[in-house]
Amino acid sequence: MWRTQIPKSIYARFFVSWSRVRREVLVLRDILLKFNARKVIEFGCGIGRHGYLLSKLGFDVLLTDIRDWRFGSARRMPFKIYDVLEGGNIGVFDAGYAMGLIIVFNYEQIIRALHNIGELLGKGIFIFDYNFTIYNEPREKIVRIRGREYRAIMMKEEIEPIEGGVLYKYRIDILDDKGNLVGVEDTEYSVYDKETIFKAIEEAGLKIEEIHWAKWDPIKYKYRLSKKEADSAFIAVRKTV
Ligand SMILES: C[S@@+](CC[C@H](N)C(=O)[O-])C[C@H]1O[C@@H](n2cnc3c(N)ncnc32)[C@H](O)[C@@H]1O
Repeated sequence: MWRTQIPKSIYARFFVSWSRVRREVLVLRDILLKFNARKVIEFGCGIGRHGYLLSKLGFDVLLTDIRDWRFGSARRMPFKIYDVLEGGNIGVFDAGYAMGLIIVFNYEQIIRALHNIGELLGKGIFIFDYNFTIYNEPREKIVRIRGREYRAIMMKEEIEPIEGGVLYKYRIDILDDKGNLVGVEDTEYSVYDKETIFKAIEEAGLKIEEIHWAKWDPIKYKYRLSKKEADSAFIAVRKTV
């Protein structure tokens, strides 16, 4: 199961830039508006930037995650602990979304999570992103935080075939400008192909309402929307009746 031991201020700068979040939020906004959704729940919100920007756009957002690691302005947002693998009722919403969440689960967990979310949202739409392939990740990335330079170094990368996709294992070390180790992400997650994800959606009792294709840029660390089928997608699903 995916986990990180990188301090959230550093994690935010490396992996959740405002420019990445803004791009994803615009896709979410368009789909939510199309389905007339105002009151929405975010699952696996992490540091909470998506929900924060959506609330600035006028949506009524409840952030949720299995742990509270909101950072910065998102700390002022409504938040509840919620485990999508456990499910259960925590309110009534027009729609829900999750970025970078479904990718952390294996096949059985994806079905369970999607099923639980479907039960919670009823007729409401659920939007999530998924990367169907492994990327050529940069070996090293540098960012400046409050005048100091930090380096993220890919220390290990392994790919194992599994049914319907691959298991991706990696370790990223974060070093400060004095060479001290300040954070580690040593983890793994499954990456399934498109057919397998579509099958999981169906098995969970949901159907696809919309797909927006996107290309992931591992250097800029953000999506670029694509008119044709591409390596990633924003998928809007809804419970079948
Ligand atoms: C890769 S991070 C993505 C965070 C954020 N949504 C983003 O896009 O930057 C995955 C998030 O899912 C959360 N998570 C993991 N398992 C979960 C579960 N069973 N239910 C809800 N959230 C979960 C983690 O705590 C983490 O915040």
